[in-house]
Amino acid sequence: MDNFFKPFGPIILEQQLSIKKINWLNNLIDQVPEEVKSKSIDDGGLDMQKYLSGNIIGDQIALPKHILYDPINGIMPDILNGCEKYNDYVSDTVKEYHGKKSKGGVLDDPKGKKPEMISAWVNRTYAGDFNPFHRHYNCDISGVLALMIPENMYDERGSGELNLFYGEDSKYNNHHVRLQPKAGTIYYFPEWMTHAVNPFRGEGERRTMAFNVICKDQK
Ligand SMILES: [Fe+2]
Repeated sequence: MDNFFKPFGPIILEQQLSIKKINWLNNLIDQVPEEVKSKSIDDGGLDMQKYLSGNIIGDQIALPKHILYDPINGIMPDILNGCEKYNDYVSDTVKEYHGKKSKGGVLDDPKGKKPEMISAWVNRTYAGDFNPFHRHYNCDISGVLALMIPENMYDERGSGELNLFYGEDSKYNNHHVRLQPKAGTIYYFPEWMTHAVNPFRGEGERRTMAFNVICKDQK
């Protein structure tokens, strides 16, 4: 029997989160006053642009914890749950290969670690905005949740797509994944994974929430 396998490369988790929660969050984001949106987070506002890599005319604003952890509609418990699943899958997959070499078990096994959000921010982008090739730092898992996607944005080639990169463009190898998230789609990936968002033309807002999570040993 043929046995094709591809044991290398980072793991990506895709999920679809509750549209009801996405709508609730979008509604709150729509109501953030201009003076709060444009005031730097260093001065008590929500603007995070100086810490981010995007070339964006729209807003890049932090999300307060009481919104992210709202007992009914908060999205962060779902995301942390996703991180736990991600860690379990990574652990099980990596163990399969490490286990053949090491009697001491898997070093730095993520299974059972407690994910903790360290930052989350919303990118409100419009025609021409883009996020160049970059990675995140100082965390374990990063991700992006699509909150709002302009109708027909993906009709034009590459328009508004999320790109993930790993390794080099080489023969018999895939180093680049093009993703077209819809509202509610979330992707989790290792913080070191380089990514970029293409610009789009036309009407509407492309809105996403990005986040960084660290995973700590349970006490
Ligand atoms: Fe990013």
